[in-house]
Amino acid sequence: MTTLVHVSDLHFGRPAVAERLDALREFIEGIEPDGIAVSGDLTQRCTNREFAQASAYLGSLREIAPYVVIPGNHDIRWLGAVARNLGFAGLLRKGAHNFKYSRYRRHISDDLSPSLEVPGAVIAGLNTAHGISRGSLTKRFRDLGVIGHVKHADIQRVKAAFEAADPGAARIVMIHHNPIRGELSGRHGLANTEQALHSFSDLGTELVLCGHDHQDAVHTIEKGAHGLVISTAGTISNRIKPGRASSFNLVETDEDNLRIIAHSWKKGVGFVPSEDRSFPRRTLSRPT
Ligand SMILES: [Fe+2]
Ligand SMILES: [Fe+2]
Repeated sequence: MTTLVHVSDLHFGRPAVAERLDALREFIEGIEPDGIAVSGDLTQRCTNREFAQASAYLGSLREIAPYVVIPGNHDIRWLGAVARNLGFAGLLRKGAHNFKYSRYRRHISDDLSPSLEVPGAVIAGLNTAHGISRGSLTKRFRDLGVIGHVKHADIQRVKAAFEAADPGAARIVMIHHNPIRGELSGRHGLANTEQALHSFSDLGTELVLCGHDHQDAVHTIEKGAHGLVISTAGTISNRIKPGRASSFNLVETDEDNLRIIAHSWKKGVGFVPSEDRSFPRRTLSRPT
């Protein structure tokens, strides 16, 4: 069996809670998973200080298991990038792009869409945090710079990661923005949800990992060639929705089943299992 710990929205800075971060690391130490998936929003305000804390924490996780990480909308300097784009009539557009991801690249990784293969699973990370750009335009003012989108070129990267992996490996895509409307937030994270999910399905993806909504949820949908399981991890931080707790998801997969066990924070106790869902794997309908 392959075991993955999926965490999201750590939000180093004011929302981060040391006690919960320590408890998460202890949990990971206890189960020694095959891999750790971190689906973005490492920081709250994209500062060097927050990134340094996030980097140190990820470094401590790496001693336990390999991880794969992508940026979230809080990890990019999108406002400054917009100013650079406008100020010089697009002449500095490349500079604006570099500026946008500069702190993430300096502290976390140069690769914004990395993948990780562990025995039994391949996780293709795909950056959906592009700030204000053509694919992420929205009429909702509060979603400006917040909403994400999947770029076609990144779909090709997912395809390449899947093709390079062991044929029996569970195919998992990790994005930051939730493609399913949040139950409490009522918001979609992605601008091009339909197109993205069809593309993932057509590549034989079995599971999509995401965060951003700060509320854990597990969904199944039928798209394209076959169905997808979508696992949204909550947040480890205290930026929680009313009535919800900090949480993360444990993913277990073997030849027959895919299981997602949400773990929620219980004051005075720690992280405890809160939801347990199992699905049959769909490997038979995988494209060749
Ligand atoms: Fe977040
Ligand atoms: Fe986010």
